[in-house]
Amino acid sequence: MYTIGIDLGTSAVKLLLVDEQGQICNSVTREYPLLFPQTGWSEQHPEDWWTAVSASIPQLLDGFDASAVTGIGCCGQMHGLVILDEHDAVIRPAILWNDGRTAEETAWLNTVVGREKLSELTANIAFAGFTAPKLLWLRKHEPENFARIAKIMLPKDYVNYMLTGVHSCDYSDASGMLLLDVAHRRYSEEMLSLCGLKPSQMPALYESYQVIGTLLPDVAAALGLRSDVRVVAGAGDNAGAAVGTGVVGEGGCNISLGTSGTVFISSKRFGKDPFNALHAFAHADGGWHLMGCMLSAASCNKWLCDEILKTRNYAAEQVDITYDKLGRSHVFFLPYLMGERSPINDSDARGVFFGLSMDNTRADLVQAVLEGVAFAIRDSLEVARSIGLSIPRSYLCGGGARSELWRTILANVLNIPLDLPRTEEGPGYGGAMLALVGCGAYDSVAACADALTGVKATVEPDPVLAARYEERYQKFRKLYPAMKNLFQEVK
Ligand code: XUL
Repeated sequence: MYTIGIDLGTSAVKLLLVDEQGQICNSVTREYPLLFPQTGWSEQHPEDWWTAVSASIPQLLDGFDASAVTGIGCCGQMHGLVILDEHDAVIRPAILWNDGRTAEETAWLNTVVGREKLSELTANIAFAGFTAPKLLWLRKHEPENFARIAKIMLPKDYVNYMLTGVHSCDYSDASGMLLLDVAHRRYSEEMLSLCGLKPSQMPALYESYQVIGTLLPDVAAALGLRSDVRVVAGAGDNAGAAVGTGVVGEGGCNISLGTSGTVFISSKRFGKDPFNALHAFAHADGGWHLMGCMLSAASCNKWLCDEILKTRNYAAEQVDITYDKLGRSHVFFLPYLMGERSPINDSDARGVFFGLSMDNTRADLVQAVLEGVAFAIRDSLEVARSIGLSIPRSYLCGGGARSELWRTILANVLNIPLDLPRTEEGPGYGGAMLALVGCGAYDSVAACADALTGVKATVEPDPVLAARYEERYQKFRKLYPAMKNLFQEVK
């Protein structure tokens, strides 16, 4: 028996073929374009996601017994607004999680509706990337498109719809819409009506491991799969990654160093950050989690290497950053290339190199970027600590975690041991695990995680380096407050 796990990311989709013992038997990655139509805007064509997924599945199955595939689980980039008309055709490109165009709508929600009211209805306040502010933006700026909406959904739900013909969403991903009453796992009618939506425009809600349907016969035939393959609801990519690393149940922590950077803390009970700096969302195991999300993490290094240094050889750029240089550079980088979500909630913030001098090298810039991202992740961890959560250690996953140097920097900036999971595939592996549960191979997500996940290696902090980074972090913390007003004034 195999399941297929899909990680619908921002730059690419990655598919895994996983057997019942959790072995990854094959994987395929396919990229698609990311569009920046204006500064701070970020869009993608949902059709590109489907083209990539449907072209990748036959390739994934090549050389394997396709009739042994019993389930599919997709975990995807969160918050993106996909809108379908009455014929289920896509109305406009999806507006993504890292799109910052909704500053006005976000401010309106947080001040006019009010943070307290929002938090009471949804357990969260508004952030620019969330789905509800995007709907308000659309209603104001593209009323003709807004009027045509028959169904809204999130990115991975579009893939699930194309597979099954079912409009669905799971609780973990729906939490990031700001339309869900997270504590009670149901839509908030008050929030829907505030955004001018009817319940009939919303997809049906499921737990992540629940089966939403089976493949449409013509889709099954085109993909080379049996039509009784079960598709589970799947999850937001962070909840999916937490499942994939084994962060389920009470008190686990997973840090993802992907396009975004997240600190994900799982819990069996519902709870929220009294200051709403951390998101309070449902988890894919049936429980809940708190999460801090920075918008540009590994993408800062990708930007520096691809766009500025004009190289794809990221490892070569890190060779000159030797251990003795760590925590000693005087160059800082503020990683706010797409504005920032947690904890500063400022879509006007932008990237900054600070403290450059004539003796600085190319490697110093790379080091500043790796350290700046680590400091910004620490910002979210500090919020969690400030509300009394104890985070003695964490898992680490995501593309950035493949760099040994970045892992070392992060473990020392956070001053906690970082566990590397047995599989680094986070959301894709989580998706395959959710499908295994949906197909009955395991009784629960927790049981599946018990059986299939574990620690491969641990990065321990070094007290001397951690102390050096502590000093640097205290300086880093002063930079954003000093520039906050300038980001608004000088555009
Ligand atoms: C989480 C978030 C990002 C995306 C990345 O709130 O917006 O982590 O899910 O794909």
